[in-house]
Parts: sequence; structure tokens; C-alpha cells
Amino acid sequence: MLTIERALPQDAPAILALQRLAFQSEAALYNDWSIPPLTQTLEALLKEFSAAIILKAIAEGQLVGSVRARCHDGLCEVGRLIVHPAFQRRGIGSRLLTAIEDQFPAVTRFELFTGSKSESNLRLYQRAGYRITRTKSLSPAASITYLEKRANPAG
Ligand SMILES: CC(C)(COP(=O)(O)OP(=O)(O)OC[C@H]1O[C@@H](n2cnc3c(N)ncnc32)[C@H](O)[C@@H]1OP(=O)(O)O)[C@@H](O)C(=O)NCCC(=O)NCCS
Repeated sequence: MLTIERALPQDAPAILALQRLAFQSEAALYNDWSIPPLTQTLEALLKEFSAAIILKAIAEGQLVGSVRARCHDGLCEVGRLIVHPAFQRRGIGSRLLTAIEDQFPAVTRFELFTGSKSESNLRLYQRAGYRITRTKSLSPAASITYLEKRANPAG
């Protein structure tokens, strides 16, 4: 059974460890182990708890996933969607994405981004109703793609 609930600051070390594990595949894809999810410090993650809602997914008594989002001026920025490699491809990532959106019933739009070469991430987001809005070049070899989803009007 999978449960998704609000994470607390005491979950931060486990979330950071899972983040470092989950993003190894992205680092390998870009041949870059200096990407922000791999270099974030515990202190920086702890600070995020004051501005963001962070969710955790628990299965078999173990942390298997997480996602976070923060909202300002009607825009909700979703980030760091992660699932433990041994638990991927079972729908947990998609469920986490829906769960974080449900935390913000009043926003007008959701925005997130992923590496432009991360095709399975782009598929996941597009399946969830996100549309590509723009691409930003980070270097001659790497770029990130932004996607957004208009929230359903209440009612
Ligand atoms: C991105 C990430 C969170 C997705 O998590 P996930 O739990 O595997 O996501 P889902 O299971 O919802 O979907 C992934 C795939 O599994 C498939 N799937 C879902 N449920 C399934 C099931 N029961 N049986 C078989 N396949 C299934 C989906 O169709 C999807 O397939 P696709 O890649 O061919 O489109 C995970 O891969 C991850 O942690 N990646 C590294 C970090 C990262 O890149 N995060 C995003 C940064 S923006």
C-alpha cells in the first residue's frame, strides 16, 4: 500500500538521500554530477520547508518518493519529483504529481521543468496535462524545458 502525506523537517535527511539516489539517472543522461538536485545541502532543503509544501510517499514502511511545490501570485512551481529507482514505473510519480497539485486548489497554473533530453519525464508531465511552454539553454550541450498546466476552475 502507498500513502502520500505531508513531509516534516525531520524527513529532510531521508528525502535528500532519496533525491541524490533518484537523480543519478539524470546526472548520467547529461554526464553532469553537479546538477542542483545532487549538490543541494541539508540546510538548503530544511529552508525549503518554510516556503514550500513537501510531500512524501511511503510504501512498505519506507520513503519511496517525494515532490515539493511553492505558490506565489496564483502560480504554483512544482519541483524535485523523485521516486526510488526500485519503485519506479508503478505510477507513484504520477500519483505524487496529482497529490501536490491537490494541495493548491486556488492556483491558476502549475509550472515545472525538466532537462530537455529527459523524454520519459516529458511524457509523464504531458500525460498529466502539462504543455511545453519554453526551452532555456544552460550550455551548448544542455537545456531545460518548461511546462505548464492551467488549473481547473473551482467547481
Ligand atoms: C520522474 C520519476 C519521478 C517518475 O517516477 P515513476 O514512479 O517511475 O513514474 P510513473 O510510474 O508514474 O511513470 C513512469 C513510467 O512508468 C509507466 N507506468 C506507470 N505505472 C505502471 C505500471 N503499473 N506498470 C508498468 N508501467 C507503469 C508509465 O506509463 C511511465 O512510462 P513511460 O516512461 O514509458 O512514459 C522517476 O523516474 C525519478 O525519480 N526520476 C529521477 C528524478 C527526475 O528526473 N525527476 C524529475 C525531475 S523534473
